[in-house]
Amino acid sequence: MNYQGKTIWITGASSGIGEAFTRAFYKEGANLILSSRRQEVLEEVRNSLGEDTSNVKIIALDLMDGDSFPEKTKEALAAFGQIDVLINNGGVSQRSTVMESEMSTFRRLMEINYFGAVGLTKEVLPHMVDRKSGHIIVTSSVAGKIGTKFRSGYAGSKHAVQGFFNSLRQEMYEHNVAVTLLCPGFIKTDISKNALTGDGSKFDKMGDAHSNAMTADEMVAKVMPKIKAQKEEIYVTGFKEKLALWVQRFSPTLLNKILKNQKVT
Ligand SMILES: NC(=O)c1ccc[n+]([C@@H]2O[C@H](COP(=O)([O-])OP(=O)(O)OC[C@H]3O[C@@H](n4cnc5c(N)ncnc54)[C@H](OP(=O)(O)O)[C@@H]3O)[C@@H](O)[C@H]2O)c1
Repeated sequence: MNYQGKTIWITGASSGIGEAFTRAFYKEGANLILSSRRQEVLEEVRNSLGEDTSNVKIIALDLMDGDSFPEKTKEALAAFGQIDVLINNGGVSQRSTVMESEMSTFRRLMEINYFGAVGLTKEVLPHMVDRKSGHIIVTSSVAGKIGTKFRSGYAGSKHAVQGFFNSLRQEMYEHNVAVTLLCPGFIKTDISKNALTGDGSKFDKMGDAHSNAMTADEMVAKVMPKIKAQKEEIYVTGFKEKLALWVQRFSPTLLNKILKNQKVT
């Protein structure tokens, strides 16, 4: 896939993995639409890209606000006349047990991570189906496959993402719209600092697993060839997460026994 002149809409572009995708697709010569809540940070990201950013449009949006998606999508389509790739990447994690988490925290995780991706995808799909071309990417997680302590609501939202986008893929084959589930393990971003605690406040700490993980730029460099090949599911993990996925496939019971005694950060 050659992205020169193609339009890529990236949510969560103000930080971490989304920002790294922004840099990578800018280098590919794509038109970019950058979204997240913080307009001023998106502008900083745009300014850091290079001299000419006439191919980069910012559309601030809150993934909690599904009612705004039709208007935001109109704006996105008007920017460059088409959307070739939608990267549903914006998201938030969790650091709290089920017992200490308020229902509002679980709902927020679902609203941002699941309904945000579902809602925006639903707005963009008719355009891709009309053109018989498009690629929907969603940043799921290893947590979309494996549940661990302190991540119940997060893992729930990412498992839901897996189910929805696997089903969508089945419906989209005949329309030539590809669907990719991207499943990273620990990546060194602000995800841990921005994670929600039980009452919905920010965790504000960097866990060891994230501090010692690969950077978002390293991650994106690894996955770009697979994204270009429109792979249906992409894993990008450290050794421990790879091993956990492997053990789960052959013995979920054994994995549960191992995880039970793990320090989760
Ligand atoms: N880092 C990891 O270890 C890891 C592993 C697996 C999966 N992931 C997934 O990767 C994705 C990106 O995370 P990251 O690691 O890059 O974390 P991050 O650095 O915290 O970035 C999260 C991004 O999501 C945006 N966002 C959060 N809430 C939003 C909302 N309500 N509306 C719109 N945008 C919102 C943030 O922008 P604003 O604050 O400007 O809105 C930010 O750009 C997430 O879906 C995450 O679940 C991360």
